[in-house]
Amino acid sequence: MTSTNDIRRSFLDYFEGQGHARVPSAPLVPHNDPTLMFVNAGMVPFKNVFTGLETRPYVTATSSQKCVRAGGKHNDLDNVGYTARHHTFFEMLGNFSFGAYFKEQAITNAWTLLTREWGLAPDRLTITVYHTDDEAASLWKKIAALPDERIIRIATKDNFWAMGDDGPSGPCSEIFYDHGDHIPGGPPGSPDEDGDRFVEIWNLVFMQYEQVGGVIMSNLPKPSIDTGMGLERIAAVMQGVTDNYDTDTFKALIAASEVLTKTRAEGASQPSHRVIADHLRTSGFLVADGVLPSNEGRGYVLRRIMRRAMRHAHLLGAANPLMHRLVPALVAEMGAAYPDLVRAQPLIEATLQQEEIQFRRTLVNGLRLLDEATATMGPGDTLPGATAFKLYDTFGFPYDLTEDALRARSLQVDRAGFDQSMAAQKAAARAAWKGSGERASDDLWFDLVEEHGPTEFTGYSGHEGEGIVLAVIENGVRGDTLGHDQEGIVLVNQTPFYGESGGQVGDAGVLRSINGLEAVVEDVSKPLGKLHALHVKVVSGAIKAGDTVQQYVDVERRAAVRANHSATHLLHAALRNRLGGHVTQKGSLVAADRLRFDFSHPTALTPADIAAIEAEVNGHIRHNQPVSTRLMTPDDAIEAGAMALFGEKYGDEVRVLSMGIGADADYSVELCGGTHVNALGDIALFKIISESAVSSGVRRIEALTGEAARQWLGERDAKLREAAATLKSSPDEVPGRVAALIENSKRLERELAEAKKALALSNANGGGSGGKSEAAGPEQVGGHAFLGQVVDGLDPKSLRSEVDAMKQRLGGAGIAALIATNDGRASVAVGVTEGVTVSAVDLVKAAVAALGGQGGGGRPDMAQGGGPDGTKAGEAMDAIREALATVSA
Ligand code: ALA
Repeated sequence: MTSTNDIRRSFLDYFEGQGHARVPSAPLVPHNDPTLMFVNAGMVPFKNVFTGLETRPYVTATSSQKCVRAGGKHNDLDNVGYTARHHTFFEMLGNFSFGAYFKEQAITNAWTLLTREWGLAPDRLTITVYHTDDEAASLWKKIAALPDERIIRIATKDNFWAMGDDGPSGPCSEIFYDHGDHIPGGPPGSPDEDGDRFVEIWNLVFMQYEQVGGVIMSNLPKPSIDTGMGLERIAAVMQGVTDNYDTDTFKALIAASEVLTKTRAEGASQPSHRVIADHLRTSGFLVADGVLPSNEGRGYVLRRIMRRAMRHAHLLGAANPLMHRLVPALVAEMGAAYPDLVRAQPLIEATLQQEEIQFRRTLVNGLRLLDEATATMGPGDTLPGATAFKLYDTFGFPYDLTEDALRARSLQVDRAGFDQSMAAQKAAARAAWKGSGERASDDLWFDLVEEHGPTEFTGYSGHEGEGIVLAVIENGVRGDTLGHDQEGIVLVNQTPFYGESGGQVGDAGVLRSINGLEAVVEDVSKPLGKLHALHVKVVSGAIKAGDTVQQYVDVERRAAVRANHSATHLLHAALRNRLGGHVTQKGSLVAADRLRFDFSHPTALTPADIAAIEAEVNGHIRHNQPVSTRLMTPDDAIEAGAMALFGEKYGDEVRVLSMGIGADADYSVELCGGTHVNALGDIALFKIISESAVSSGVRRIEALTGEAARQWLGERDAKLREAAATLKSSPDEVPGRVAALIENSKRLERELAEAKKALALSNANGGGSGGKSEAAGPEQVGGHAFLGQVVDGLDPKSLRSEVDAMKQRLGGAGIAALIATNDGRASVAVGVTEGVTVSAVDLVKAAVAALGGQGGGGRPDMAQGGGPDGTKAGEAMDAIREALATVSA
C-alpha cells in the first residue's frame, strides 16, 4: 500500500524533478489576504504572484498546502462525519506556473504523473472541461488519447474556479477517478453525479482573470496554472478504498479514538469517530498556526470545531477530556511532514484539554436542556431560536453544534429566531453601556460593531497584513474618503495594529495600497474595547471604505513596547517577592521608550531593594525562557494563580501570560491582552531609573529596557568619566575623591569662618558717630557699663556667642551690643548681664529701626534683629546708646 505520506512526497518529488520550486505549506491564517478566513486552496499563498503584485525567485512551484474549509465561502463543516469525502482540514497538492507554462504542459504533467508514475489505469479516468474550452478538450484528446465521451464539457461554475469574490480565476479541467460500477453514481454532468463512483481527484485551473466582487475585471499579466489535488482523495484511490476515512492516516486516528473510548467506529458511533478524527486535525493545525479558541472571528471557528468534536467524544461515552489524548496519534501520523506540529504539540494538547475541561462544565446541563426542549418533537420539527440562543449564551453551545446534535433526529433549528435573540442581547448591552459619556461617538462605535463585528487582531503573531477598510471617520462622523493631508480614523476588518489598552500604547506604522495610498498610522485606540481605530494621516493617495490596504506596524517600536510590557510583568513579580504580597498594581504605562509601574506600598524603596529587584528581573531575562500564552475564562485563570486587576472588566476570555523557569515556571502569571516578547532574553536589559511617591501608599517605578536602558547607562557612564576627568582621577576613584573634596571644603569653610571672625573682631570699633575703638573698653552710658562693637564680615550666626564673650569682657554688670555688617545688610545682637534691669529687646528694636528694618526680638537678657541698610551701623549703635540713656534716666 502506498501511504499518504509517500503520496505527498512522491507528488512533490515529481514536480521538483520537472524544475518546480518545492515550497513549504504556508500557515493556515492568510495574513496576506483579508477576504479569507483560512487558506482554502493551494494557490492562496501565491495569489499576489498570479496577479503580478509580487515576484518570487521562481516561476514554477509545487506544494502540499494545509487548507481549512470551515467558515466563509468554502465551508464543509456541516457535512463532516456524515460523508466519505468532506473534511474541515485537508491537504492540497498542487503545481503552479506563473506565466511559465499553460494548458498543454499542465495536462501533460498531470497525465504523466497519474498514469505513468503512479500507474493509474487510463480507462479509470474521466475528464471535464469548461464548455467553451475547445483548446483544453483537444489537448486532452491529443495527450491522453481519451475517447470523446470521457472528455465531458460542463457549462456550470463547477468548471470555472475562483478563489473567492476577489482574486484570480479561470476555467478549469477536472480529472475524475471511476471507482467501478459496483459503486452507485454517474459520471460528471449526469443526474446521479453526486454518487461515490466518480470522484474528482485533481482540478487543473487555467488561471486567466482577476475578479473583484465576483466580477471578472481584468486579465492576469500572463496565463498561469494552478492545480489542486486533495491528498485524502488520491490516497483513497491509491489505497483502493472509496472512503477517505478508510485511508491510513484516518484509520490510525480513528483507531486511537476507538482505543481511548473503547467504542468501535461502527453504526451510530461511526460519524462521531470521523468527526473527532477530522476535527482533531483541524484543531491541531490551527493551534500550531497561532489560532486559539475564542468567541470572535477565527478563534470562534476553532472553538466551534473543537466543541463539536467534544460533544461527539461525550456521545461515545468519554467520561473525561479526550481530544488532547489523541494529539500524539496526530503527531505520529503527520509530524514528519509538518514539523510545526511537533513543535506545537504541548500547546495543542494544553489548549484542547483546557477547552474540553471548560466545555464539559456546561455540556451535560446544556444537553439536558436540549433533551427537554425536544422531548415531544418528531422528524421535521424545529427547535425555537430562543432555546438555541440560550444553549449558546449560557451553555457555550455554538449554533452549529446544536444543529449537529439534532441532525440524527432530523430536527432543525430556527436560525432567524436565534439571530433575533442575539440582536436583542446586543441591544440590551448597548443600552447598559456607560462608556465614555460621549453618546454620539459611542453610538457611532456601537453601530460599527453591530455592522461589522469586532476588529480581528492579527498582531499577536505578526506585524503586517492586508485589511479591508470598513469605514472612514473624519471629525467624529462617518465619511467617504480621506485624501491627501487629511487626518481621520480608519477601521479595517483585521489588523496587526494593537489598540491602546491595558496600559499598553497603541501601535504606529503605515498603510499602503496598490492605488498609491500612503498613510501614517499615528496611534491606535480601542473604542468599546472591540474596535481597533487607526488614527491616520494621509501622505499621498486616498483611502475609502472597501479599499484593501497593506498594513505595516512599526516593528522596532513594537519590539520595544513588547520588551517593556514583559519587563513590567517581571517587575511586578519581583516587587512582590522582595516587598511582600501586599504589592498590587495600581496603574501602568507601557510605551516604546519606557515603562511606568504604580503599586501599593507604604514606604520608599531602599537602594538595596532596587538593586535586588533589578538583579532578579535581569536574571530572568538572561535565562531567556519562552513566554507562554493560554486562553482561559477569567475564573479559571484566577484559580490557576493569575494576577488579575481588581475592578477591571475582563471579557469571556482572557489571555494568561506565564513567565518563569523550571520549578518556578509560574514566577509571573498575569491576565493580559498585551503583546509580549517570545522569550525573555528579547528584553535584553532592565534598569530602574526612578522610584517616587504617587500618593499616600502608592509608589511609582520608571524603568527602561533593551536599547533605551543601554543608552541610559551609556550616558551615565559618560557623565562619570567626565567627572573623573575633571577630578583628574579614574571613574573608580570618583566617590572617594568626591568625599575627600567635600570633607576638605567643609574644613576650609570652617577655617575661613574662623579667620573672618578673627579679622572682623580685630578691626572692630565701638561704632557710632564717636568712632570709638574696641581698645577703648566699656564706656558708661546712662549709668551702665556699655560695650559696643561694629564689625564687618562676621557671620550673623556667631553674633550671640560673640555678645556672650563681650559680656565677659565687661567684667561685671553691664550691656554688650554687637552689630555685624554683611553684604550691605546688618545684624544686631544685644546682651544684658544679671543685675541690670534694662531690656535687651528695647535696645535691639532701636537699632533695627535705625538700620531701616522692623521688629527684632528675644529675651530681656539677649535679643537679636537686623536691617537692610548696613551703612547705618554706626547710627544704629548710637541709637542703642540713646535708648539706653533714655530708659535709664
Ligand atoms: N485552486 C483550485 C482548487 O482549489 C485548484 O480546486
